[in-house]
Amino acid sequence: MSFPSSKQVTGTAAILGGTGDLGMHISRIFLTEYREHFPTVRITIREPSIPKAQELAKLGAELYKTSDSFDEVLSGVDVVVNALPTSIPEEAKKQLLAAIARANPEVYFLSEFGADWRLNEFDGYEHSEWRRKRVILANTEAALQGTQTKRILLFNGNFAGWFFIPALGIDIEKNIYSPLGPGSLRIAVTAEDDIARSIARLAILSLDPTTASTVPTYVRITGQNVSYEEIRDTVARVKGVPKGEIKTYDLDEYKKNLQAKPSTFIMDYVRVLTGERKVDWTDDNANELVNPGQSLWRWKTVEDFLRNSQ
Ligand SMILES: NC(=O)c1ccc[n+]([C@@H]2O[C@H](COP(=O)([O-])OP(=O)(O)OC[C@H]3O[C@@H](n4cnc5c(N)ncnc54)[C@H](OP(=O)(O)O)[C@@H]3O)[C@@H](O)[C@H]2O)c1
Repeated sequence: MSFPSSKQVTGTAAILGGTGDLGMHISRIFLTEYREHFPTVRITIREPSIPKAQELAKLGAELYKTSDSFDEVLSGVDVVVNALPTSIPEEAKKQLLAAIARANPEVYFLSEFGADWRLNEFDGYEHSEWRRKRVILANTEAALQGTQTKRILLFNGNFAGWFFIPALGIDIEKNIYSPLGPGSLRIAVTAEDDIARSIARLAILSLDPTTASTVPTYVRITGQNVSYEEIRDTVARVKGVPKGEIKTYDLDEYKKNLQAKPSTFIMDYVRVLTGERKVDWTDDNANELVNPGQSLWRWKTVEDFLRNSQ
């Protein structure tokens, strides 16, 4: 690693699960827009011959088989981005943490990339994804105790690809918007490429000794904090349809029903968090840290997502 100034900071990055839903975006962005900072990008993959892996290899990625020892892929790395599902086998999680402790990278991004679950209030019926994330964080802290590795939990709200979902109360096909409260409720949503750019920027800031201390452990970023009314208006404008209906539901009643009959679909819980204003990060985010004044990229908006899917 070398770091004369942030502009010239360079390091070796390993992206675990780099061909996944989010991982593919992280891999492409590191290998293209941020390549000068990360000349070596290693990616773990179960089957290196699949087309996604080959696409990344053509961009210059070094491919490692997930079944091989994590020590090999992590040897000498500065940045580790974990984009694996939280449901991988417990033994693999254990081996990974032990290997990270041995490799002692400068920075490790846990596989987070969603809601800030520290705010959750689902006592006794929290979705299993967040229960796993709590355990993974505790195990990570235990395994990396005493190392220099900076841990980062990046919260980005919803992925753009997981946003127009009736379970969230956003049904653009039927043109009906159903918040658990007023239509002015806002929800954080970030395009996957912008999440990837934020990871790259946080990695660079962490590698640069002049800025490393400005990077917190818990980081919220948000491409847009958009209200149900704004989504409705944007859909009308982009699709040329009449403004849809805002159908308000009762938050307490919905939450009681969820407690009585817990759902396996995490979006049913995110809808509650939205009703409780826990995923409106308008006034509390690190956008300025990763992308000051949008000088590095323009955050994509719901209007952009809708126009691109036309
Ligand atoms: N905020 C949101 O809206 C949102 C939405 C989705 C996910 N997330 C979060 O983003 C993170 C990444 O999720 P994702 O959906 O991007 O992951 P994913 O696509 O389900 O998986 C990533 C990659 O992990 C590898 N993989 C899967 N199962 C594995 C196993 N058992 N052992 C080893 N490798 C395995 C696969 O790669 P190969 O098959 O190529 O080896 C897969 O492409 C998670 O923490 C998740 O909670 C957030």
